[in-house]
Amino acid sequence: MDDEESILEVASEYFMAKGYHVLTAENGRCAADIIATEKIDCCFTDINMPEMDGLELAEHIRKVDNTIPVIIMTGYPSLDNTIQTLKNGVVDFLIKPVNLNQLELCVKRVLRERRLFIRNLFLAKEVEGKQRIEKLNRELTYKVDELNTLNRIMTDFTTIDSSVDLFKRVVDLSTELTRANEAVFYIINEAVNQPVPVARSLARRNGHGAAGDQQPDPSDALDLGGFIMENREEDKPLLIQDTANVPGLPEVLRSLMLVPLNIRNKVFGILAVSAQDGAVRFSEKDLYYMSFMTNKAAYAIENIALYENIYENLFATLYAFVRAIEARDPYTEQHSNRVTRIATALCRAMGGSQEEQDILHVAGQLHDIGKIGIRDDILLKPGRLTDEEFRIIKEHPVIGANIVERLGLWDREKNIIRCHHERYDGKGYPDGLAGARIPMLARILSVADVYDAIASDRAYRKRMEEDRILGIMYGGSGTQFDAGVIDVFRSLYEKGDIAQILADAP
Ligand SMILES: [Fe+2]
Repeated sequence: MDDEESILEVASEYFMAKGYHVLTAENGRCAADIIATEKIDCCFTDINMPEMDGLELAEHIRKVDNTIPVIIMTGYPSLDNTIQTLKNGVVDFLIKPVNLNQLELCVKRVLRERRLFIRNLFLAKEVEGKQRIEKLNRELTYKVDELNTLNRIMTDFTTIDSSVDLFKRVVDLSTELTRANEAVFYIINEAVNQPVPVARSLARRNGHGAAGDQQPDPSDALDLGGFIMENREEDKPLLIQDTANVPGLPEVLRSLMLVPLNIRNKVFGILAVSAQDGAVRFSEKDLYYMSFMTNKAAYAIENIALYENIYENLFATLYAFVRAIEARDPYTEQHSNRVTRIATALCRAMGGSQEEQDILHVAGQLHDIGKIGIRDDILLKPGRLTDEEFRIIKEHPVIGANIVERLGLWDREKNIIRCHHERYDGKGYPDGLAGARIPMLARILSVADVYDAIASDRAYRKRMEEDRILGIMYGGSGTQFDAGVIDVFRSLYEKGDIAQILADAP
């Protein structure tokens, strides 16, 4: 570009003859327009031009594409100009008058330099890209690792249903996920004023640590109790990367984490994770994992406690119902309790499983719970009942089963409660079931229930003579009762076990 058209023409013809593609412009503005639409490899310009001068053009080109070399041609090079041209990314300047040969050498040189520059730029970008990918890759691996660890912690806790197993899991995971030598879970109880170690795990690396599946004794743990009581910050985790200059800690210790397990904003326990290996220093990441874990554990404990509480509260409530019914009738006080004891003894003697005995324990205690819906004047009536009154009394197994059913728990217990007045010969109530259609545990409960009813004082009569009691029990074998259950009852009775059970009952 030059304002002197003759130079433009001569140069243009010369370079075109040499095979170059030449575009010319009378001033900087026109050159800028060309650069916007054409692919340019290098640019020669004068400084003094109308509209946009050479320096402005150079600056413009640098902004659009900093790989295009700009060569300034000037008749009067000054220090000012030179500095300015360099600042604007101008790679060279030629002093006028310029001969064509000089111009061509310059073009060849700047084009070679440009190729190198572009290649370097490309390489640099490639390197940068590679580094970025590697960094992303590292971050991704780290994230995947982290997610795996967190996921592991989550799934480990969802399958646990007892708090004892949970504490064990917390300490085992601590030594697995960190480079700790020892992890101990303490329960904090204000009444005791000293953390109580309840679970402990030792690292299993390098052949050290616990042998087999035996859980190390928590009471042998590194003594951190005093330090924990003094230094734990209410509900914040504590990381001591290097314990060297921390007073009050055992000398073997190198690094320590104290992580509280809070339940409803109250400290329930403290997880102490310690390293004794010279090189191990716990990091913020370790602390993060441990905090995440105690959080999950806290949720799990809450759930377990909630479930256990609901279950126990429910039973306690229903049991209180039963006691209330029995309290209305002093003669039947503790009837359910005695029936339960006899029934579970029969079940055990018949080879029943612990689960079946547990079911009988609940069903036995609650079998007459349906009587809560029966009026006192019928329930407590001395003497014979009318047919209507008897019909109402006979509703109690169904009412009882309905009460238990509504809780959504204890399906088998519910059936036993419903069937405890069924007879083996099908003449019982409410459904008139016979033989094997009556649940086995209900057949057992029925024997225990009838025996206790006739062997104790009632509102309408005194306790029966023993001969008469046994006459009813043994005589009912195969009709009122399952003969197999009566056989076992008889052997227990003759050994004196039944009398013993009743003597032991409160
Ligand atoms: Fe009953």
